[in-house]
Amino acid sequence: MIQHRGERHGNAIRRRAASKGVERSRAPSSTLPVIARAKGSALWTVDGRKLTDFASGHCVANLGHGHTAFERRCRELLKGFPRNAYGLGTELEVQAMDALLRSMKGNPKAEKVLWAATGADGIHKAMMAALRFQPDRHIIVATRGGFHGKKGLAGDVSGNASDNPNVRWLSFPQADVEPRANYRKKLDRLAADHPGDIALFITEPYLGAAGSYHPPKWYHQMIQTWCNKHGIPFIFDEIQSCHGRTGNMYAYETYGVTPDLVALGKGLGNGEPVAAVAGRADILDALEPGDASDTFSGNPRACAAVLAALEIFKSEAIVRQAKARAVELRSMLDALKSHFAFIKAVRGEGMVYGIEVTNGAVANQCVLEAYLGNGKKGVHFIGPLAGNVLRVSPPLVINAKELDEAYRLLRDSWSRVDPTVDNSVS
Ligand SMILES: Cc1ncc(COP(=O)(O)O)c(C=O)c1O
Repeated sequence: MIQHRGERHGNAIRRRAASKGVERSRAPSSTLPVIARAKGSALWTVDGRKLTDFASGHCVANLGHGHTAFERRCRELLKGFPRNAYGLGTELEVQAMDALLRSMKGNPKAEKVLWAATGADGIHKAMMAALRFQPDRHIIVATRGGFHGKKGLAGDVSGNASDNPNVRWLSFPQADVEPRANYRKKLDRLAADHPGDIALFITEPYLGAAGSYHPPKWYHQMIQTWCNKHGIPFIFDEIQSCHGRTGNMYAYETYGVTPDLVALGKGLGNGEPVAAVAGRADILDALEPGDASDTFSGNPRACAAVLAALEIFKSEAIVRQAKARAVELRSMLDALKSHFAFIKAVRGEGMVYGIEVTNGAVANQCVLEAYLGNGKKGVHFIGPLAGNVLRVSPPLVINAKELDEAYRLLRDSWSRVDPTVDNSVS
């Protein structure tokens, strides 16, 4: 059980939570900060320590925590509505759908919306729709190493292998990017092996959980061309990358594609649990009324958060501001790489990066030492991805002063990391 020296309140809460078995429903963490409050890019622990949030709940709080205008607008929009509107309609829901589709006008295929309660739920529903759209097709193609969620069809296409006998894989450019012709050949082989039988293609804009691999633009463009040629719905999983992360509002803009279905989550509601699929009407309409319904999807709180977040993105020009901040973030990470030999690579774009370090034991030390910081202050990372990659995804609204403070804290605290520790002791 995680316990930190001097954290009387945090340790007591960690012990109580562990005794109830909470770890089964929580993402693994090597530090497990116990939070009392949050504002902007800062988290305060129950023991009074201040952490710069370098995770945003894994690309969720893109507008930062407790954003004043966002919280106010959510309250205004929700006034009088019940928290849940199962089997009911609200105008708020229509306004949120309209605003979402308007925000996606760069993709003319974003015609209709399907609500979901979580990212995995959205992916499952998008795949269900594609499978129903052409019911004589059975094969699902996914990119190897992707993460789309742990449940249902999303779980079937996550990782490198699947229990679903209909899943086939295409390699995703990682450390070694193969020549274009190789991927094209693999795609053509898939089409030749399953003529007229491929029901859908699903990929992430960049491999997040597999360690932050951002492919060349031509990779997604080639997939889209191939999907178009064979009449295969192209599903882009923007659960993690939507709402400004890659330097544009949507990652499909960054990569120059127009997917048939785009799955959105995490930042969509800036912390309110909500996900959605936006895309071609003919594909989404393949689901019968009620097929993709559940208790919580599209509830008024979720719709208010979607609408309020989109309004703030526009009124505060969040993406434009984040672009400027991204340059500072990148140079800060490059400076850390120059300073610490245990940093092997910095990969990413916009406001989402991975810092690859020599091994998992070093990565875990980095997370812990960043958390411990200078005692009073630290920097919060989620646990390493793919064993040895630290995810950097602060709120898009983090300011230059906060970034600079985080840089200084990391420079100091990572000097305590023992780079000679190997994986066998992690
Ligand atoms: C790209 C991507 N897709 C899907 C999911 C699943 O989302 P959720 O955890 O909300 O089910 C995640 C979660 O990390 C993700 O990063």
